[in-house]
Amino acid sequence: MKTGGRRCAGPLKAKMNRGDIGKAVGKLAGAKSLLVITGAGISAESGIPTFRGSDGLWNNHRAEDLATPSAFERDPAVVWQWYDWRRGIIAKAMPNPGHLAIKDLEGMFGHFLLITQNVDGLHERSGIRNIIEIHGNLWRVRCVRDGRGSMLMDVPLKEVPPRCACGALLRPDVVWFGESIPGEALRRSFQALEACDVLLVVGTSGVVYPVASFPEEVKGNGGFVIEINMEETPITRAADVSLFGRSGDILPEIVKELKKSR
Ligand code: OAD
Repeated sequence: MKTGGRRCAGPLKAKMNRGDIGKAVGKLAGAKSLLVITGAGISAESGIPTFRGSDGLWNNHRAEDLATPSAFERDPAVVWQWYDWRRGIIAKAMPNPGHLAIKDLEGMFGHFLLITQNVDGLHERSGIRNIIEIHGNLWRVRCVRDGRGSMLMDVPLKEVPPRCACGALLRPDVVWFGESIPGEALRRSFQALEACDVLLVVGTSGVVYPVASFPEEVKGNGGFVIEINMEETPITRAADVSLFGRSGDILPEIVKELKKSR
Protein backbone atom coordinates (compact mmCIF):
# COMPACT_ATOMS: atom_id res chain seq x y z
CA MET A 1 0.00 0.00 0.00
CA LYS A 2 1.35 3.43 -0.87
CA THR A 3 0.13 6.98 -1.35
CA GLY A 4 0.52 8.97 -4.50
CA GLY A 5 -1.26 11.11 -7.06
CA ARG A 6 -2.63 14.56 -6.64
CA ARG A 7 -5.22 15.58 -4.06
CA CYS A 8 -7.30 17.42 -6.63
CA ALA A 9 -8.00 16.96 -10.32
CA GLY A 10 -8.82 19.96 -12.46
CA PRO A 11 -11.83 22.22 -12.41
CA LEU A 12 -14.72 21.23 -10.18
CA LYS A 13 -17.46 19.44 -12.06
CA ALA A 14 -20.98 20.83 -11.82
CA LYS A 15 -22.73 20.14 -8.54
CA MET A 16 -24.90 17.07 -8.47
CA ASN A 17 -28.38 17.49 -9.85
CA ARG A 18 -31.37 15.19 -10.42
CA GLY A 19 -30.08 14.42 -13.92
CA ASP A 20 -26.85 12.98 -12.51
CA ILE A 21 -28.72 10.63 -10.15
CA GLY A 22 -30.95 9.68 -13.09
CA LYS A 23 -27.92 8.91 -15.27
CA ALA A 24 -26.34 6.80 -12.51
CA VAL A 25 -29.58 4.91 -11.84
CA GLY A 26 -30.17 4.36 -15.58
CA LYS A 27 -26.75 2.75 -15.91
CA LEU A 28 -27.21 0.65 -12.75
CA ALA A 29 -30.63 -0.53 -13.95
CA GLY A 30 -29.03 -2.06 -17.05
CA ALA A 31 -26.02 -3.55 -15.24
CA LYS A 32 -25.59 -7.22 -14.34
CA SER A 33 -22.40 -6.90 -12.34
CA LEU A 34 -21.78 -4.22 -9.71
CA LEU A 35 -18.51 -3.53 -7.94
CA VAL A 36 -18.51 -1.06 -5.03
CA ILE A 37 -15.39 0.46 -3.48
CA THR A 38 -15.56 2.35 -0.21
CA GLY A 39 -13.22 4.48 1.86
CA ALA A 40 -13.37 6.28 5.18
CA GLY A 41 -16.06 8.71 3.92
CA ILE A 42 -18.77 6.02 4.07
CA SER A 43 -18.20 5.73 7.84
CA ALA A 44 -17.95 9.49 8.49
CA GLU A 45 -21.69 9.72 9.17
CA SER A 46 -21.26 6.96 11.78
CA GLY A 47 -18.99 9.39 13.66
CA ILE A 48 -15.65 7.84 12.65
CA PRO A 49 -13.04 10.45 11.64
CA THR A 50 -11.68 10.10 8.10
CA PHE A 51 -7.90 9.92 7.69
CA ARG A 52 -7.33 13.08 5.66
CA GLY A 53 -10.20 15.18 7.02
CA SER A 54 -9.57 18.00 9.51
CA ASP A 55 -10.50 15.65 12.40
CA GLY A 56 -8.23 12.84 11.14
CA LEU A 57 -5.11 13.84 13.06
CA TRP A 58 -4.33 12.07 16.32
CA ASN A 59 -1.92 13.84 18.72
CA ASN A 60 -0.54 15.66 15.66
CA HIS A 61 0.30 12.39 13.88
CA ARG A 62 -0.95 11.66 10.37
CA ALA A 63 -2.07 8.12 9.40
CA GLU A 64 0.99 7.86 7.11
CA ASP A 65 3.28 8.40 10.14
CA LEU A 66 1.66 5.70 12.27
CA ALA A 67 0.43 2.99 9.89
CA THR A 68 3.90 1.78 8.93
CA PRO A 69 6.14 -1.15 9.95
CA SER A 70 8.92 1.28 10.90
CA ALA A 71 6.63 3.29 13.23
CA PHE A 72 5.67 0.02 14.92
CA GLU A 73 9.30 -1.07 15.25
CA ARG A 74 10.25 2.31 16.68
CA ASP A 75 7.39 2.68 19.13
CA PRO A 76 4.71 -0.04 19.21
CA ALA A 77 2.99 1.62 22.17
CA VAL A 78 2.32 4.86 20.24
CA VAL A 79 0.96 2.94 17.25
CA TRP A 80 -1.25 0.87 19.52
CA GLN A 81 -2.47 3.98 21.41
CA TRP A 82 -3.68 5.35 18.06
CA TYR A 83 -5.48 2.10 17.23
CA ASP A 84 -6.91 1.95 20.78
CA TRP A 85 -8.33 5.48 20.21
CA ARG A 86 -9.89 4.47 16.86
CA ARG A 87 -11.21 1.17 18.27
CA GLY A 88 -12.89 3.11 21.11
CA ILE A 89 -14.72 5.35 18.61
CA ILE A 90 -15.62 2.46 16.30
CA ALA A 91 -16.92 0.27 19.13
CA LYS A 92 -19.64 2.87 19.80
CA ALA A 93 -20.47 3.43 16.10
CA MET A 94 -23.29 1.87 14.10
CA PRO A 95 -23.65 1.27 10.35
CA ASN A 96 -25.34 4.35 8.81
CA PRO A 97 -27.85 4.66 5.92
CA GLY A 98 -24.95 4.54 3.41
CA HIS A 99 -23.75 1.13 4.69
CA LEU A 100 -27.33 -0.15 4.72
CA ALA A 101 -27.99 1.06 1.15
CA ILE A 102 -24.90 -0.84 -0.07
CA LYS A 103 -26.27 -3.93 1.65
CA ASP A 104 -29.55 -3.35 -0.26
CA LEU A 105 -27.62 -3.05 -3.54
CA GLU A 106 -26.00 -6.43 -2.87
CA GLY A 107 -29.45 -8.04 -3.04
CA MET A 108 -30.28 -6.32 -6.36
CA PHE A 109 -27.44 -7.65 -8.54
CA GLY A 110 -26.62 -11.17 -9.71
CA HIS A 111 -22.93 -10.36 -9.38
CA PHE A 112 -21.90 -8.07 -6.57
CA LEU A 113 -18.67 -7.39 -4.72
CA LEU A 114 -17.70 -4.74 -2.18
CA ILE A 115 -14.03 -3.86 -1.78
CA THR A 116 -13.57 -1.70 1.28
CA GLN A 117 -10.40 0.04 2.38
CA ASN A 118 -11.96 0.49 5.81
CA VAL A 119 -10.75 -1.57 8.72
CA ASP A 120 -13.70 -0.66 10.99
CA GLY A 121 -15.88 -3.72 10.28
CA LEU A 122 -19.06 -1.61 9.85
CA HIS A 123 -19.91 -3.11 6.44
CA GLU A 124 -19.82 -6.59 7.95
CA ARG A 125 -22.09 -5.39 10.74
CA SER A 126 -24.59 -4.17 8.10
CA GLY A 127 -24.94 -7.84 7.10
CA ILE A 128 -23.14 -7.69 3.76
CA ARG A 129 -21.77 -11.03 2.50
CA ASN A 130 -19.59 -10.42 -0.57
CA ILE A 131 -16.83 -8.24 0.79
CA ILE A 132 -13.07 -7.90 0.60
CA GLU A 133 -11.48 -5.92 3.44
CA ILE A 134 -8.47 -5.05 1.33
CA HIS A 135 -6.62 -3.23 4.17
CA GLY A 136 -7.58 -5.79 6.84
CA ASN A 137 -9.65 -5.37 10.00
CA LEU A 138 -8.65 -3.58 13.18
CA TRP A 139 -10.41 -6.08 15.46
CA ARG A 140 -8.08 -8.82 14.21
CA VAL A 141 -4.50 -9.06 15.48
CA ARG A 142 -1.57 -11.26 14.70
CA CYS A 143 1.51 -12.38 16.57
CA VAL A 144 4.69 -10.80 15.19
CA ARG A 145 6.60 -14.02 15.99
CA ASP A 146 4.55 -16.71 14.23
CA GLY A 147 1.95 -14.65 12.33
CA ARG A 148 -0.96 -16.47 13.98
CA GLY A 149 -4.17 -14.41 13.78
CA SER A 150 -6.88 -13.95 16.41
CA MET A 151 -9.60 -11.49 17.40
CA LEU A 152 -8.94 -8.90 20.12
CA MET A 153 -12.13 -7.11 21.12
CA ASP A 154 -11.01 -5.37 24.36
CA VAL A 155 -11.92 -1.66 24.46
CA PRO A 156 -9.85 -0.10 25.85
CA LEU A 157 -6.95 -2.51 25.54
CA LYS A 158 -5.90 -4.18 28.81
CA GLU A 159 -2.21 -3.67 27.99
CA VAL A 160 -0.55 -1.34 25.49
CA PRO A 161 1.07 -2.73 23.45
CA PRO A 162 -0.87 -6.01 23.71
CA ARG A 163 1.07 -9.28 23.74
CA CYS A 164 0.47 -12.79 22.51
CA ALA A 165 0.35 -15.72 25.00
CA CYS A 166 3.86 -16.60 23.71
CA GLY A 167 5.16 -13.23 24.96
CA ALA A 168 5.76 -11.66 21.54
CA LEU A 169 4.06 -8.42 20.46
CA LEU A 170 0.68 -8.49 18.76
CA ARG A 171 0.10 -6.15 15.81
CA PRO A 172 -3.14 -5.07 14.15
CA ASP A 173 -3.97 -7.36 11.21
CA VAL A 174 -4.09 -4.44 8.79
CA VAL A 175 -2.03 -3.54 5.73
CA TRP A 176 0.38 -0.71 6.51
CA PHE A 177 2.08 1.69 4.11
CA GLY A 178 4.96 -0.11 2.42
CA GLU A 179 3.32 -3.53 2.89
CA SER A 180 1.68 -5.68 0.21
CA ILE A 181 -2.02 -6.38 -0.09
CA PRO A 182 -2.59 -10.13 0.54
CA GLY A 183 -2.37 -11.98 -2.80
CA GLU A 184 -5.81 -13.59 -2.69
CA ALA A 185 -7.57 -10.26 -1.97
CA LEU A 186 -5.71 -8.66 -4.88
CA ARG A 187 -6.48 -11.54 -7.27
CA ARG A 188 -10.22 -11.43 -6.46
CA SER A 189 -10.22 -7.64 -6.77
CA PHE A 190 -8.69 -7.68 -10.26
CA GLN A 191 -11.12 -10.39 -11.35
CA ALA A 192 -14.01 -8.13 -10.26
CA LEU A 193 -12.45 -5.06 -11.92
CA GLU A 194 -12.46 -6.96 -15.22
CA ALA A 195 -15.95 -8.41 -14.84
CA CYS A 196 -17.98 -5.45 -13.57
CA ASP A 197 -20.30 -3.35 -15.72
CA VAL A 198 -20.46 -0.54 -13.17
CA LEU A 199 -18.03 0.57 -10.48
CA LEU A 200 -19.42 2.71 -7.65
CA VAL A 201 -16.66 4.51 -5.72
CA VAL A 202 -17.77 5.94 -2.40
CA GLY A 203 -16.00 8.22 0.10
CA THR A 204 -12.36 7.74 -0.75
CA SER A 205 -9.79 10.47 -1.40
CA GLY A 206 -8.28 8.27 -4.12
CA VAL A 207 -4.66 8.76 -3.07
CA VAL A 208 -3.81 5.33 -1.62
CA TYR A 209 -2.72 2.61 -4.04
CA PRO A 210 -3.61 0.09 -5.32
CA VAL A 211 -7.28 1.06 -4.84
CA ALA A 212 -6.67 4.56 -6.28
CA SER A 213 -5.91 2.93 -9.64
CA PHE A 214 -9.08 0.77 -9.74
CA PRO A 215 -11.38 3.34 -11.46
CA GLU A 216 -8.90 3.69 -14.36
CA GLU A 217 -8.72 -0.14 -14.58
CA VAL A 218 -12.51 -0.35 -14.93
CA LYS A 219 -12.54 2.43 -17.54
CA GLY A 220 -9.86 0.55 -19.45
CA ASN A 221 -12.07 -2.55 -19.42
CA GLY A 222 -15.04 -0.57 -20.81
CA GLY A 223 -16.91 -0.23 -17.49
CA PHE A 224 -18.89 2.76 -16.19
CA VAL A 225 -17.63 4.63 -13.11
CA ILE A 226 -19.86 6.49 -10.64
CA GLU A 227 -18.23 8.44 -7.81
CA ILE A 228 -19.89 9.64 -4.60
CA ASN A 229 -17.91 12.10 -2.50
CA MET A 230 -18.25 15.39 -0.65
CA GLU A 231 -15.66 16.95 -2.93
CA GLU A 232 -13.67 16.48 -6.10
CA THR A 233 -10.88 13.87 -5.95
CA PRO A 234 -8.29 12.47 -8.38
CA ILE A 235 -10.96 9.87 -9.27
CA THR A 236 -13.37 12.56 -10.51
CA ARG A 237 -11.58 12.81 -13.84
CA ALA A 238 -12.07 9.09 -14.58
CA ALA A 239 -15.67 9.06 -13.35
CA ASP A 240 -18.54 9.08 -15.85
CA VAL A 241 -20.81 10.56 -13.18
CA SER A 242 -19.78 12.34 -9.96
CA LEU A 243 -22.39 12.80 -7.26
CA PHE A 244 -21.25 15.37 -4.70
CA GLY A 245 -22.80 15.09 -1.24
CA ARG A 246 -23.07 12.75 1.74
CA SER A 247 -23.06 9.05 0.92
CA GLY A 248 -25.70 8.50 3.64
CA ASP A 249 -28.07 10.74 1.63
CA ILE A 250 -27.13 9.79 -1.94
CA LEU A 251 -26.92 5.97 -1.65
CA PRO A 252 -30.43 5.50 -0.18
CA GLU A 253 -31.73 7.81 -2.94
CA ILE A 254 -30.08 5.63 -5.59
CA VAL A 255 -31.57 2.48 -4.05
CA LYS A 256 -35.03 4.08 -3.94
CA GLU A 257 -34.89 5.15 -7.61
CA LEU A 258 -33.42 1.82 -8.70
CA LYS A 259 -36.25 -0.08 -7.01
CA LYS A 260 -38.77 2.14 -8.85
CA SER A 261 -37.11 1.47 -12.19
CA ARG A 262 -37.34 -2.33 -11.83
P1 OAD B 1 -9.49 9.58 3.38
O1 OAD B 1 -9.61 10.12 4.75
O2 OAD B 1 -8.22 9.81 2.65
O3 OAD B 1 -10.67 10.16 2.46
C1 OAD B 1 -12.01 10.20 2.86
C2 OAD B 1 -12.84 10.73 1.73
O4 OAD B 1 -14.21 10.68 2.10
C3 OAD B 1 -12.56 12.20 1.34
O5 OAD B 1 -12.40 12.29 -0.08
C4 OAD B 1 -13.80 12.96 1.80
O6 OAD B 1 -14.14 14.04 0.93
C5 OAD B 1 -14.87 11.87 1.70
N1 OAD B 1 -16.03 12.05 2.60
C6 OAD B 1 -16.04 12.52 3.87
N2 OAD B 1 -17.28 12.45 4.39
C7 OAD B 1 -18.08 11.93 3.44
C8 OAD B 1 -19.47 11.60 3.37
N3 OAD B 1 -20.30 11.81 4.40
N4 OAD B 1 -19.95 11.07 2.21
C9 OAD B 1 -19.13 10.87 1.14
N5 OAD B 1 -17.80 11.14 1.16
C10 OAD B 1 -17.28 11.66 2.28
O7 OAD B 1 -9.83 8.00 3.48
P2 OAD B 1 -9.51 6.83 2.44
O8 OAD B 1 -9.56 7.31 1.05
O9 OAD B 1 -10.38 5.70 2.83
O10 OAD B 1 -5.46 2.83 5.42
O11 OAD B 1 -8.01 6.48 2.82
C11 OAD B 1 -7.38 5.37 2.26
C12 OAD B 1 -6.50 4.65 3.27
O12 OAD B 1 -5.57 5.55 3.84
C13 OAD B 1 -7.25 4.09 4.45
O13 OAD B 1 -7.80 2.81 4.19
C14 OAD B 1 -6.24 4.02 5.54
C15 OAD B 1 -5.47 5.31 5.27
O14 OAD B 1 -4.18 5.28 5.66
C16 OAD B 1 -5.21 2.09 6.56
O15 OAD B 1 -5.45 2.51 7.67
C17 OAD B 1 -4.63 0.74 6.39
